Amino acid sequence: MGENFINFVEAKSNLKFMFTGGKGGVGKTICAAGIAYHFAEESEKTLIVSLNPVHSLSSVFGQELWGGQIKPVKGIDNLWTCEVDISETVNKYREQIARRLREFMKWADIPINPDPFIEVATTNPAFEESAMFDDMVDIMIKQGEEYDRIVFDCAAVANAVRLLGLSKIYGLWLTRMIKSREEALSLRVKLSFRKDKIMEEIKRDPMLADLLSMNQRMKNARVLLSDAEKTAFFFVTIPLALPIAVVKRFINMVEAFDIPVGGVFVNMVMPESVVKGRGVTDYLTNKFKEQQGYMQIIHRDLRELVRAYIPMFPTEVTGLDMIKKVSDALVSGELPV
Ligand SMILES: Nc1ncnc2c1ncn2[C@@H]1O[C@H](COP(=O)(O)OP(=O)(O)OP(=O)(O)O)[C@@H](O)[C@H]1O
Ligand SMILES: [Mg+2]
Repeated sequence: MGENFINFVEAKSNLKFMFTGGKGGVGKTICAAGIAYHFAEESEKTLIVSLNPVHSLSSVFGQELWGGQIKPVKGIDNLWTCEVDISETVNKYREQIARRLREFMKWADIPINPDPFIEVATTNPAFEESAMFDDMVDIMIKQGEEYDRIVFDCAAVANAVRLLGLSKIYGLWLTRMIKSREEALSLRVKLSFRKDKIMEEIKRDPMLADLLSMNQRMKNARVLLSDAEKTAFFFVTIPLALPIAVVKRFINMVEAFDIPVGGVFVNMVMPESVVKGRGVTDYLTNKFKEQQGYMQIIHRDLRELVRAYIPMFPTEVTGLDMIKKVSDALVSGELPV
């Protein structure tokens, strides 16, 4: 095992943004809840945010937390949740883009109906992800001032990486867009006899102003996202082939985007005690052996990154008592016995 979770976070007192990622169903949400619970118990003002289109904070906490607003968790101090309402963001984003396109076409004197362009620009899967990314950036910037720690529960792997990777792609795309807008505008200045008037117009160019402010936002987000003192991405796996493969691939992708890797949590580990004593079935013994094999692979390939083990509990994780158990396992970092 590498440095355990507690030592890792205690060495980083400025660690503000934590993410959990991994294959579907491995325990990303319960780990995010466990991390958030730990910091709240340490009297740190903590926010847990669900960026998953299918939210599960309400079911994990056993409280009604949906609705898109920041809500306090009952039964523990210092802990707030927010299940981001993606449909609201998508609509807001769609209106904003439509307005920008209309303004731009009017400003650029393009006499065509912008509606088909708006339709194309706003009805594709990437659009939802961009909207979600925008929400995430918003929360990082606005709530980052308000909270000591923010834990993001991300959707499945590809989605999370795309969300984070988008910031880099956005940056490249925006730089080119801004450059070509500047070139187009300076051409207009060169061609015009009334330079003073055109210069005034340039300053009012809504498209350029928009692009510049969006670029600045993305730059700020990238600075936060790639700052290893402030941000850490934790991966969750279970001792099984596919989730391990996903984590390995995920680590490479995230590193390529300069996102700091916080480490790996191994979830649903069967304690040895389940195969001790009388009445142990073949099924359990075989399952345990299978896990042992995969644990060896985890230790061979990811050893330095393993921060904690979470036992397989006899029931699913719902309610604060269960979340506390997850948090205790994260804090102990030890293999369950
Ligand atoms: N260690 C554990 N012991 C028992 N049940 C667990 C454990 N970890 C997770 N679960 C249960 O497994 C299910 C999946 O966990 P969770 O929702 O945290 O996974 P996820 O990775 O967030 O899933 P999704 O990809 O759907 O968001 C939940 O019902 C949860 O209560
Ligand atoms: Mg989840």
